[in-house]
Amino acid sequence: MHNRLKTKFLGFKVESPLVLPAGIMDMSFSGLDISVKNGAGIVTSKSLTLESRSGHKGPVIAEFESGLLNAMGLCNPGIVDGLAEINEFKERSDIPVIVSVFATNADDFVELSNHVNVSKAELIELNLSCPNVYDEFGIPLASSKDEVFKIVKAVKEVSNLPVIAKLSPNVLSITEIALAAEKAGADALCLINTVGPGMIIDTKMVKSVLFNKFGGLSGPCIKPIALKLIYQAYSAVDIPIIGMGGVTIGEDAIEMIMAGATLVGVGTAVYYRGIEVFDKINREIIEFMDENEYDSLEDVPRLEKL
Ligand code: SIN
Repeated sequence: MHNRLKTKFLGFKVESPLVLPAGIMDMSFSGLDISVKNGAGIVTSKSLTLESRSGHKGPVIAEFESGLLNAMGLCNPGIVDGLAEINEFKERSDIPVIVSVFATNADDFVELSNHVNVSKAELIELNLSCPNVYDEFGIPLASSKDEVFKIVKAVKEVSNLPVIAKLSPNVLSITEIALAAEKAGADALCLINTVGPGMIIDTKMVKSVLFNKFGGLSGPCIKPIALKLIYQAYSAVDIPIIGMGGVTIGEDAIEMIMAGATLVGVGTAVYYRGIEVFDKINREIIEFMDENEYDSLEDVPRLEKL
């Protein structure tokens, strides 16, 4: 990895600013390992729940000309087996791991956090923003600043690890939500989760392509929304941000950094450019830095705050 890509996040040294977001690769040892071997600086597990979940029936992914819809339905092996995979990965790797967890109330988030405390992972991410389980659980918690405050505060009281709140783009004021997370003690924010959800229709079959009908939108078409929300959150809070949403090439990652992100998630682009996308974007970031005479990521200018 190139020295000029090295940076720090919540005290952890990372070799690249690129993050594997939750739910992109299989969360097995090999799924995490292959992302790191291909240039990811930090990896995130699938969102783990207290019990295992099989998720929605397929099709769970639908492609269209400007992006993807997904409605995985939080399929995961459950917190105990999920952490066993992560511990196996950590036995052979120094790369920081973020464990993503999903629940619908503060007590369950606390219980999940207690499990993560005794794992080998370095960071915990609270998925407050999955848009694909509306029928089961209703509106994502990240829609309410009070819920965000309550859950982050409850987890901060028990967690031994830095806590990252993963926020939704589908809110009226990201500033209010970001401030609530920060006030409750969040160490960092991650945004954005997928947009919508949306729908694609199979016109021959006259039905939605996704079995779940609706799914979260990702890919290049959401990048302008992500940049705007990251910039608004960055302008409001003092904690670091993992920015994501439609990052496909190096210059997208630079835009995220200019908008205020410290680290940058690369998710749907794995679908378009293969798992090598992390190395490719790392190289493209270096090329951009060369062209613009930036020695380090810290030299890349950030927009003036709002
Ligand atoms: C899913 O499992 O449906 C996606 C997870 C998420 O968007 O948070």
